[in-house]
Amino acid sequence: MRLGRTLVQTIEPKNVQAILAHKFKDFELGSRNDALRPLLGEGIFASDGAVWEQSRALLRPNFVRNQISDIAVYEKHVSQLIKSIPADGSTVDLQDLFFRMTIDSATEFLFGQSVDTLGSGSDSASQSASKAFAQDFQTSLAGVLVRARLGPLKIFYRDRVFTKATEGSRKYVTRIVEEALTNRALQESAQAEKPIDHSYVFLYELIKQTQDKRMLTDQLLNILLAGRDTTAGLLSILFLTMAKREDIWSKLRDEVLKLEGRRPSFEDLKSMTYLTWVLNETLRLYPIVPLNVRVANKNTTLPTGGGSCGTLPIFIPKGQEVMYSSYSMHRLPEFFGEDASEYRPERWEGLKPGWAYVPFNGGPRICIGQQFALTEAGYTIVRILQEFERLESRDLEPFKEHLTLTLASKNGTKVALIPAQTRSSAGAL
Ligand code: HEM
Repeated sequence: MRLGRTLVQTIEPKNVQAILAHKFKDFELGSRNDALRPLLGEGIFASDGAVWEQSRALLRPNFVRNQISDIAVYEKHVSQLIKSIPADGSTVDLQDLFFRMTIDSATEFLFGQSVDTLGSGSDSASQSASKAFAQDFQTSLAGVLVRARLGPLKIFYRDRVFTKATEGSRKYVTRIVEEALTNRALQESAQAEKPIDHSYVFLYELIKQTQDKRMLTDQLLNILLAGRDTTAGLLSILFLTMAKREDIWSKLRDEVLKLEGRRPSFEDLKSMTYLTWVLNETLRLYPIVPLNVRVANKNTTLPTGGGSCGTLPIFIPKGQEVMYSSYSMHRLPEFFGEDASEYRPERWEGLKPGWAYVPFNGGPRICIGQQFALTEAGYTIVRILQEFERLESRDLEPFKEHLTLTLASKNGTKVALIPAQTRSSAGAL
């Protein structure tokens, strides 16, 4: 039961595959859309059916490989992050820095201008508007989460701070959209003073396809929401784990040192086996979207869980909410071995868990930013390992989860990093 509603729960890979792929059309996001609407409008993350299909078709081409593999986008913000880490071995909360880095890089990638929360703190008007946006976005996110948790009771949720922050977030993004549209119009009439460099700006790619201001604002906010906390959560938990597991840090560092100080290319990252295993293993034990819900939009069935034996198909009536937990499914010994609850990257050698492993979901709504996330996370990890030779935990507590829309660490990632004797040739910081 969830606030008076009955839930069907499953951790059966076959059922998850049916919900996300085979019977995709029988399920919708349900009340999530309503909860997120004040901030996200009708964007990709908060819509179903034809509206969602239109968004997906619009956005998909912008996540093609040559956009994502431009390492320069990540380097700028990773080097800011590295600069923010004390070089004298004093304690730092990496989680805080990762959350700032991912909003900085996502806003640069999406809008063509970063909110630069890790920056040196210039107090120009545009800088303070950007920082106010970062704060508003955070506050608005917390509010839509409350709405999502309240379900049908969200009509009683009234919070002026939330309303103001939501309006502030939307206004900021709309202004950026308007500027881009004006620039484009000027370009077309050849009046712009100088050509705009829009090689990797998501917004400039989108306005080639639509000039609908509201649609553009919605989509940018949706991708920002989907892309920011997720990658930061992954990095935070991964470094927290490594701080307590010197063996993993050392193996990963051995792999990174083979680059001989060179900045990793997209191809380097793809070919680093241990790095891939560490990312997989972190997302297995700590999937950043650990729970998800869909609602049946017609009477339907799922392949297993029914009958007195619990193995026959099960009837799901129209309107029924079905929750699936990747967190629990990713820990099933039948798919991951008897030691499934242990963090052991080596298990990924030859492992093909299919639908038992869905950190990015699957089927038509699979995470559109998967490659972006893995490239940004991999690049950040490699660059930190190039710059620092030791990672020490400064947190005696065992790991505790913090769940908002996504998973992070309740106590942050309190660590100390000891600089390498010879820092990478990459890092003229
Ligand atoms: C480690 C990082 C990430 C993880 C674990 C992750 C996971 C997920 C999951 C599980 C979903 C499905 C949600 C649902 O259908 O209910 C999703 C959807 C989505 N993700 Fe990611 N994500 C990550 C990073 C990113 C990044 C960096 C971006 C964009 C730059 C992004 C953009 C999206 C979008 C737009 C959707 C909605 C797709 C649709 O509904 O068609 N994600 N992600």
